[in-house]
Amino acid sequence: MTTTIFSAHGFEEEHLREANAGRHDLRLLNIKLDNHTAALAKGCEAVSLFVSDNASPDVLKVLHENGVKYLALRSAGFNHVDLAAAKELGFRVARVPAYSPYAVAEHTVALMLALNRKLIRAHNRVRELNFSLDGLTGFDMHGKTAGVIGTGKIGSAVVRILHGFGCRILAHDQYENEVLKTLSGVTYTDCSTLCKTSDIITLHVPLTPHTRYLIDRHSINSMKPGVMLINTSRGGLVDTKAVIDALKTRHVGYFGMDVYEEEEGLFFEDHSGDVLQDDVIARLMTFNNVLITSHQAFLTDTALKNIADTTIYNLDCFEKGAENENELFI
Ligand code: NAI
Repeated sequence: MTTTIFSAHGFEEEHLREANAGRHDLRLLNIKLDNHTAALAKGCEAVSLFVSDNASPDVLKVLHENGVKYLALRSAGFNHVDLAAAKELGFRVARVPAYSPYAVAEHTVALMLALNRKLIRAHNRVRELNFSLDGLTGFDMHGKTAGVIGTGKIGSAVVRILHGFGCRILAHDQYENEVLKTLSGVTYTDCSTLCKTSDIITLHVPLTPHTRYLIDRHSINSMKPGVMLINTSRGGLVDTKAVIDALKTRHVGYFGMDVYEEEEGLFFEDHSGDVLQDDVIARLMTFNNVLITSHQAFLTDTALKNIADTTIYNLDCFEKGAENENELFI
């Protein structure tokens, strides 16, 4: 089966080719799916999308007109696909529900530690032969209260790491995980209590109409002064401008983000020769207590292999007409 792989990045090509082992005719395109590029899938029954590809109703219409029937997402999240439009046009959509919650959880904790212990500043100083320690004081994670919003696959992995550090863990989720309560001493509470009482807050819920701007001006004002806020889930969970205002007053003491509400067209690309047009991220970059990575929390060898293996498995199932638990409309 011929499949167009949109947004095929160098870091995933080898994994995709290995997982495929010549079974499908993969057309790897290092370009994003949009209104103009969708027609490149002509002649393919399936396309594969990365998290930065925007499958809006217009784009889906062009894919449909060109004979595409199957969307194989190389991601767990699917907020970049208009599912209602996809369903109406008769597309089948499969995702990679879990590829390595540990990859994202470990990056989350890496952001916490790097911010807390000011590793970037320390590294830059040492490179300039400045071995002074003033301004580099951190805090013990042990004994601090960490608030984990969303205790699904990734949030649970974060909980287990933070439990190992000796943090007191508060959690908020629509479902309580009994194992986390028993083995990691997690106390579930409502979102506003969690925000008011945590020293560190980390987000692991999906982006839905219910969770958009879960962290807004109001919830930020209720947080402890100096709170550490980490977002490795989706940019739209956080009102970034409200965070900037709180960073200016030092109410937010640390902000780590791997995702950004306006990341489309910015993240995953080399803009080093461009003039930065986004004034919000430009302002964020001026704070020395903000650490930004460009949606790389998933980026480990293990995760890339699992994403490639499951994507090829999804294509196999579609080709054979087999049932597949990774499909969204089942
Ligand atoms: P999951 O589905 O296992 O867990 C999500 C949890 O959020 C569930 O326990 C669910 O009950 C809870 N939840 C959903 N809506 C809620 C609400 N309104 N209020 C309270 N709880 C709610 O998902 P997983 O695998 O843990 O991933 C979480 C998110 O991480 C994904 O949705 C995605 O946005 C993000 N992600 C980020 C990556 C990165 O590279 N930065 C890579 C992979 C995922």
